[in-house]
Amino acid sequence: MKRMSGVLLAAMLLLGKLQAQQVSIIPQPAKLEVLSGHFLINAAVSLQYNEPALLKPVADWFKAAIADVSGIRLSTQPNAARRIVLQLTTPVKPTDESYTLDVSANLITIKAKSYGGIFYGMQSVLQTLPAIRTNALLQVPCMRVQDAPRFGWRGMHLDVSRHFFGPEVIKQYIDLMATYKMNTFHWHLVDDQGWRIEIKKYPKLTSVGAWRVDQNDKVWGSRPQAKAGETPTYGGYYTQAQLKEIVAYARQRNVTIVPEIEMPGHVASAIAAYPELSCTQQPQLPLTGGDYTNMSSNYCAGNDSVFTFLQDVLTETMAIFPSTYIHIGGDEVDKGPWKKCARCQQRMQQQGLKNEEELQSYFIQRIEKFVVSKGRKMIGWDEILEGGLAPEATVMSWRGEAGGIEAAKMNHDVVMTPGSPCYFDHYQAGPEGEPRAIGGMNTLQKVYSYEPIPAELPADKARYVLGAQANLWTEYITTAEHVEYMVLPRMLALAEVVWSPKETRDWQGFNQRLQPHFRAFEQKGLHYSKGNFTVNIKPVSANGQVQVQLSTEAMNGAIYYSTDGSEPNVTSQRYTSPFTLQQSAVVKAVTVIQGEVMGVKAASQSFVLHKAVGSAVQYVHPVSRYYQADGLNSLTDGIRGMHAVGKFWHGFSGKDLVATVDLGSSKTIQQVTLGCLQRYNDWIFLPQSVMVEYSIDGQSFTTLGTVSNTVSSNEKASIIKDFTVKAAAVKARYVRVTAKVIDACPKGHSGEGKVGWLFADEIIVE
Ligand code: ACM
Ligand code: ZN
Repeated sequence: MKRMSGVLLAAMLLLGKLQAQQVSIIPQPAKLEVLSGHFLINAAVSLQYNEPALLKPVADWFKAAIADVSGIRLSTQPNAARRIVLQLTTPVKPTDESYTLDVSANLITIKAKSYGGIFYGMQSVLQTLPAIRTNALLQVPCMRVQDAPRFGWRGMHLDVSRHFFGPEVIKQYIDLMATYKMNTFHWHLVDDQGWRIEIKKYPKLTSVGAWRVDQNDKVWGSRPQAKAGETPTYGGYYTQAQLKEIVAYARQRNVTIVPEIEMPGHVASAIAAYPELSCTQQPQLPLTGGDYTNMSSNYCAGNDSVFTFLQDVLTETMAIFPSTYIHIGGDEVDKGPWKKCARCQQRMQQQGLKNEEELQSYFIQRIEKFVVSKGRKMIGWDEILEGGLAPEATVMSWRGEAGGIEAAKMNHDVVMTPGSPCYFDHYQAGPEGEPRAIGGMNTLQKVYSYEPIPAELPADKARYVLGAQANLWTEYITTAEHVEYMVLPRMLALAEVVWSPKETRDWQGFNQRLQPHFRAFEQKGLHYSKGNFTVNIKPVSANGQVQVQLSTEAMNGAIYYSTDGSEPNVTSQRYTSPFTLQQSAVVKAVTVIQGEVMGVKAASQSFVLHKAVGSAVQYVHPVSRYYQADGLNSLTDGIRGMHAVGKFWHGFSGKDLVATVDLGSSKTIQQVTLGCLQRYNDWIFLPQSVMVEYSIDGQSFTTLGTVSNTVSSNEKASIIKDFTVKAAAVKARYVRVTAKVIDACPKGHSGEGKVGWLFADEIIVE
C-alpha cells in the first residue's frame, strides 16, 4: 500500500466530509457511508429487476420519477454499461422495510426483502437528485447505505371532515409522506361537520351528510348554525371508485391507508342524514362549525339498528380499504344524551352496565367483535380504555401518553400521538405572524425531540409501541396550501423520530440536512414554515436569583435582547449565556440571521423579583403532569403567566392548591399574592378563595389573611387575577398558600358537574 502524505490525507478527509454533507437524506439512514465519485443518470442507464410480478409497480414509479426530474426514460437493456438493479431477496417478508443501497460509478443496487424496502431505497436515491426538472446533471453520489426503520407505524393523519380536500390533495399528501418514508395514512373520513366516504347502502350519508351551509368566511368557533331554508353548498365526498384509486396510489408508494369511521360520538353528519340513529331521533342539519347547541352528535347505544347500520358501513369500508387496521374513533363522547335516553338506559340494565362509560365500552367491544370477525384489527382513540378496553384493541394515545402507557402495560399495541408534540394543528412558530391555529405550540425542535417510548414504560412493554403519528385536524385549515404549511417541515422531524435509530438523532445535523429540502419545497411550490424564530425566554431560578436563559431554534441564529422595554435589534445586547436580573423587568429578545431581525414580533416576558424567588415549594396535592410550566418551582420562578394557556401556568385538577414556600431564612413579610387564571372554555376557573398562612418553624402556622373570589365562574373572557393578602409586617420563614378550587364546572358549562382546573403562575412574597 502506498503511503499518502499527511496533507493529501487531510484533503481527502475534508473532501469526504464535504461529500458527506452533500447527502442530506431525511430521515437519516441507519448507516450511511459516502464514497468518492458518482453514478451519472442519463439515457444510457437501464433499470432492471427480478420478481416483476411484485416489483413492476415500484420500477414504473421510479422511472416516472426520474423522467419527471430529467426527461430521461430509463431503458431495460440488460447489457447497458450503467445499470440500476432492484433485487428482491428471499425469503420475501412484506413487513420488513429495510434495504441496502450500493451506489458505485456504474452500478446502483437496491436489495430488500419487501416491496417497501425497494421503494425506500429508491426514495433515498431520489433525495440526492434535483427536486424538479433542471439542466443539472443527475449525479447520485457513490455511497453504501444499510437502512431500516425503528418503528413500523409511521403515521400521518388528515381530517377531511372539518374541511374537505379533493383526491389530488390527498395524493400529494401521500407523495409527501412517501418521500420521507412515512407509511401509514390515517384518514379521518367522518366527523360532525361532514361525512366523506360514499356508502352505497346509505346514500344520504353523502347526499345529505357531506354538505353544509357555507360559513367559510368566518373562523370556526364563530360560525352560526345553519338556519332553516339555507342551502348547504360546502362539502364533498369521495366516491368508492375514487377511494379505491387512492388506495392503489398509496399502495404503490408503500403507504397503507387506515380509514377512520368515527363512532359512537362526533357523528352529527350521519345523524343529519339518518336521524333515527340518534337517541332523540330528531331531524337536524349538518354542523357548520363548532356550535353544537341542541345538536345530536352520538349514535344511540340502545338501538340495535345502529349496529346493523355500522356493520353495513364497515363492510363497505373494508371492501375499499385492505388495511389490517380499521379506526373506529371513540373519542370525546358526550355521555349526556345516553343518560337521558330510555333505550340506552334499558341496554345498560339488560347488560348489567354500571355507567355510561361501560355502555361506551359495550358499544366498542360489540364493534370490535365484528371487525375481528372480518379478519381485521380495531384501533381507537384512548377513550376506548374507559369502562374497559376491548380484548384485542390497539390504542391511539392522544391525550398525552397516559392512555398509551396504560394500554401497553396491559399488553395492547399502541400508537403514540400525544397532543404535545404530535398535533400539527398547533402553532409551530409565532404565534404572531402565523396563520391562526387551534392553540398550543409544537415547534420543529419539539417534534424532533420527541421520544415515542415513554421513559416510565417498563422495558419489556416497549415493543407494544408500534410507532408514532402526527394528526392534522382542519377546523382552522381550509386550503391545500395551508395543509402543506402545517405539515412542512414538522413531518420531516417526525419522520426521523420514527425511522432513524435513536442514537443517530442530532438536531444540528437535522437542521443542516433540512436546508436542501427547503429549497426543494420552494422549487416545487410547496408552502412550508421557515422556522420558529421566536426566542424562547426561560427563567432559571436558584438561590433567590432569577437567571434568564434565551434560545432560538433557528440555525445560525444570533439572539439580541433588551431589559428596559425597548424593541431589541442588532445594536442591542447580544446574548451569550444566562444572565441575572437585578430588578423586575420586561425581557425582550429577537433572533437575528445575517444581520436581519427575523420573525414578526420580539419575544417578551415580564419578570417580577420578590422575596420568594428561587425558593423551594412543597405541594400537598401534586401539580398536574400536563401543566408543570417550567418545573416544580414555577410558582417562585419570578415569571408571570400570560393569556396563552400552558406557558408558565401551574395546573391543578379538581384539588385545592396547597403550596408551602420555604424562604430559606426568616424574613419580614407583609403581603402575599397568588396569580390565577380563568379560562371558561378550557375548564379553568379562579379559586373560590385564597388563604395565606405563615410560620417560623414550618410546623405551626398562623393565618395572615384570606381573600375571596369576586369573579363569576360563568365569566367567559380570559381573566388573570391576583389574589393579594396584606397585613401588618410579620417574621416568617414558611408561607403556606391554600387556593380553594371550585366544587365543579358551573351549570350550563360543557363540563357541568365535573371537576375543573385551577391554574396559578406565581406566589409573590413582599
Ligand atoms: C382527538 O383529537 N379528539 C382525537
Ligand atoms: Zn340512546
